[in-house]
Amino acid sequence: MSNFLRACRGEPVDRIPVWFMRQAGRSLPEYRKARAGVPMLDACRRPDLVVEITLQPVRRYGVDAAILFSDIVVPLHAVGVPIDIKPGVGPVLDTPVRSRADLAALRRPEPDDLAPIDQAVRGVVASLPPDVPLIGFAGAPFTLASYLIEGGPSRHHERTKALMHSDPELWHDLLARVADISADFLVTQVQAGARAVQLFDSWAGALSAADYHQFVLPHSAAVLAAVADLDVPRIHFGVGTSEFLGMMADAGAEVIGVDWRLPLDQAAERAPGRAVQGNLDPALLRADWTVIEQQIQRIVDEGRAASGHVFNLGHGVLPSTDPEVLARVVDTVHSATP
Ligand code: CP3
Repeated sequence: MSNFLRACRGEPVDRIPVWFMRQAGRSLPEYRKARAGVPMLDACRRPDLVVEITLQPVRRYGVDAAILFSDIVVPLHAVGVPIDIKPGVGPVLDTPVRSRADLAALRRPEPDDLAPIDQAVRGVVASLPPDVPLIGFAGAPFTLASYLIEGGPSRHHERTKALMHSDPELWHDLLARVADISADFLVTQVQAGARAVQLFDSWAGALSAADYHQFVLPHSAAVLAAVADLDVPRIHFGVGTSEFLGMMADAGAEVIGVDWRLPLDQAAERAPGRAVQGNLDPALLRADWTVIEQQIQRIVDEGRAASGHVFNLGHGVLPSTDPEVLARVVDTVHSATP
């Protein structure tokens, strides 16, 4: 079994596995070339482009896992939600979801809706080296709901939080629908050959632990439960979620994602029995190499406190990152003693 899957399962590794969130993307010249003239959501529906872009960082860096080139809003788009991804902005929609009548837009996917995903994943798996597993992913219900309710990226998530507290019944119905859509997206990827999954709750750190517990946790748990019997390790990731990391682990995850705020040994204490992933601050990839090297060593040392350690950044690769630096990070992690 690959070092990545072994680390996720808390089994011994001969090398610390490493991959990067957003490893395929604007920091790579070959990505910019492949995407030229193709809108993001069109690219996600083209299996030839998905295969090429997913494989680019595997070829360039020798990372231990690939992550499907897609987006958290792809399954919403696939069921007809009028959503787009604006370059440099993120997901936007002209008709936000804010009332009970608006829920009709969130229908469950038919198999045909997700056929381009199924085809793309099969193509990726057939093209990857056999020892490099593919990670499938989905957006967690809260992060997706925030885009749907706000109509785009939001700093304060104020409409989302207001709806959550003012109309809890509508809130729970909305999140249950989004959870079903994300679950189907994940199951499709696993059935087509993805060997691990990651649930991204990027904006959950905007919430208090109490609100996370009451309004979000049951819906994220439902998504993770949908793949519980499929024998794939589940990674649960959020940014700014240190205060409720234990709850995120309890939602049903073998691996807990950690941003740059909390050292991995403390993360391991908060999520007992789980493997840990993350922690290198993506902004520090612009610092001098000696700084980066010290950070890598610190993270390797602190990662030993957990049952398993997957090296990663604390959030996605920034577009301004020099790919040469990422290549050096991979080599340095691979030469470290596990
Ligand atoms: O390499 C990978 O990590 C796999 C592909 C991937 C993308 N988006 C491709 C993408 C993954 C896993 C995502 C997840 C995603 N999408 C999240 C969760 C992870 C995170 O970063 O917090 C979120 C919040 C989104 C929503 C979204 N889509 C944002 C915020 C953006 C960036 C907007 C921008 O242009 O800066 C997107 C667009 C997007 N998704 C791009 C990529 C490569 C950029 C598209 C482009 O090249 O213009």
